[in-house]
Amino acid sequence: MAHTPKMFRLEIGNLTSPKFFEELVGLERATFRKNDSWADGELEQMAKKRNCIIAAARLEDNNKLCGYVLCTSTGLNLHVSKIAVRADCRRQGIARSLMQAVLRTAANQRRSSSSTLHVALDNEPAVQLYRSLGYKEDGLLEDYYTPGRHAYKMICDLEPYKGAAEDSPPPLQAACTTTTGRKR
Ligand SMILES: CC(C)(COP(=O)(O)OP(=O)(O)OC[C@H]1O[C@@H](n2cnc3c(N)ncnc32)[C@H](O)[C@@H]1OP(=O)(O)O)[C@@H](O)C(=O)NCCC(=O)NCCS
Repeated sequence: MAHTPKMFRLEIGNLTSPKFFEELVGLERATFRKNDSWADGELEQMAKKRNCIIAAARLEDNNKLCGYVLCTSTGLNLHVSKIAVRADCRRQGIARSLMQAVLRTAANQRRSSSSTLHVALDNEPAVQLYRSLGYKEDGLLEDYYTPGRHAYKMICDLEPYKGAAEDSPPPLQAACTTTTGRKR
């Protein structure tokens, strides 16, 4: 049965405790197929780099990790490498809130002007999520994951995220969420 969190809260930056990495690896393993899951220590290695921006979501009721997004800030671009939300917590606006948090941080604190990512063509939930945040298709990467499993390259202009307040709606779509609550 789906877990229906009344509330979740976001954490961003400074997420380097061993306990956090344990939870992160647990959620990664539960979410991705073996081929798409990063090797042991890879997540931690990346998360500890200075140019990494990471945000996590925790359920208010039990403080358990229910989502994360991991990105790399290079030059003026933010590349989103991984996002996952616990299966029983999906469609609550958690991924959208995580993405908005890192996009605002990149635009305002790292002066990023664009964000890129790669997503499997058949990953409809993820493609729809990214489109709703302002990402557009920017080419096709053939056989990106495995032979026959292609990816879209997507890009988002971060100008609309500059100066955006914490609880402001996503700039390019009608529906909105608070950073610590469900869709309203
Ligand atoms: C993709 C994923 C992160 C979305 O997480 P989520 O918390 O359920 O997403 P949200 O509730 O914030 O949804 C935001 C928007 O994304 C789109 N979306 C999310 N899930 C969707 C689904 N199953 N079908 C269609 N659109 C979907 C919708 O536009 C949604 O807005 P709406 O609810 O107002 O319609 C989650 O499904 C997941 O962890 N998938 C497995 C891992 C993965 O594929 N990661 C991406 C590749 S690295």
